[in-house]
Amino acid sequence: MDLKALLAPIADDLRRVDAILCERLASDVALINEIGAHITAAGGKRLRPAVVLLSSRALGCRTDEPAQLAAIIELIHTATLLHDDVVDGTDRRRGRITAHALWGNASAVLCGDFLYSRSFQMMVDAGRMSVMRLLADTTNAIAEGEVLQLQNRGDATVTESRYLRVIELKTARLFAAAARLGAIAAEQPETAQQALACYGHELGMAFQIVDDLLDYRAAPEHSGKNIGTDLAEGKPTLPLIHALRHGSSAQSELIRTAILEKRMERLDAVLAVVESTGGIAYSAALAARHVEAAVAALNAVPDSPHKDALIGLARFTAQRTY
Ligand code: IPE
Ligand code: IPE
Ligand code: MG
Ligand code: MG
Repeated sequence: MDLKALLAPIADDLRRVDAILCERLASDVALINEIGAHITAAGGKRLRPAVVLLSSRALGCRTDEPAQLAAIIELIHTATLLHDDVVDGTDRRRGRITAHALWGNASAVLCGDFLYSRSFQMMVDAGRMSVMRLLADTTNAIAEGEVLQLQNRGDATVTESRYLRVIELKTARLFAAAARLGAIAAEQPETAQQALACYGHELGMAFQIVDDLLDYRAAPEHSGKNIGTDLAEGKPTLPLIHALRHGSSAQSELIRTAILEKRMERLDAVLAVVESTGGIAYSAALAARHVEAAVAALNAVPDSPHKDALIGLARFTAQRTY
């Protein structure tokens, strides 16, 4: 099913999130407005806000609070993208030239700081200590994950478990927080909050495993991002880790050198090894297992169109091409 149809039950809520984002991105500093508009108007799938909204509605919340919380989550996500593109040196995002490529690293980093701190202001407005604690812990974990990943760059000894730790911190935590926020807005007890956090965690793991797989095979016109950027950065992601483990000694050597040299000239050769060692299929199968775990975590949630959409979103994550 396509994403728009999947998100139809929360279409009004999502429009409200966009309106809040637009309103809260405003600043008297023109450059902030320009960069903020550049990255948010380019769209983005709005998956994390969708998780907040669907979780809250599936658990019976009827207030406007989820839209505020969803906007906070999207601002945090957007801030991490601005910073991540500087760190990764990528020049395409959401089908556009990245902010740092247009305005320079300093502007992109500082504008990312603006978005981060604006999200903190909005958390205070939300007036719930549980929300502030959760998001303070989450943003801290994301930073740890990005730093850990930076340290892993160019390191061909990174194992699957070290890779999984990075993606848990940098990506799955935010999805887990998004789903838990929905349960918090619905005034649910800790057990229900935990079940939703588990859904978000599993969804987030699947999401990043697929993102890393797509870096080796997505069509840029679909994903809005370039392929091969992880290789260019020497990022030891799962397709490469698998190829290193299962390739012949010549194949493993090729992958090892590609990671160490952080160059993408050998992308075609690397792609061939990743394919022939089953690195893509292995990643896809692991993502599928996380998706099923995400669906299983929703067992106690009563049936509703919103719960169906949460399940659909998990399945979309595994099959997506963008
Ligand atoms: C990109 O996330 C960053 C990752 C965690 C891989 P998305 O693919 O959700 O980015 P947008 O918001 O849709 O552009
Ligand atoms: C980004 O991971 C994760 C965060 C932004 C925290 P990636 O580096 O894989 O994301 P893309 O591929 O640039 O979107
Ligand atoms: Mg990146
Ligand atoms: Mg990526």
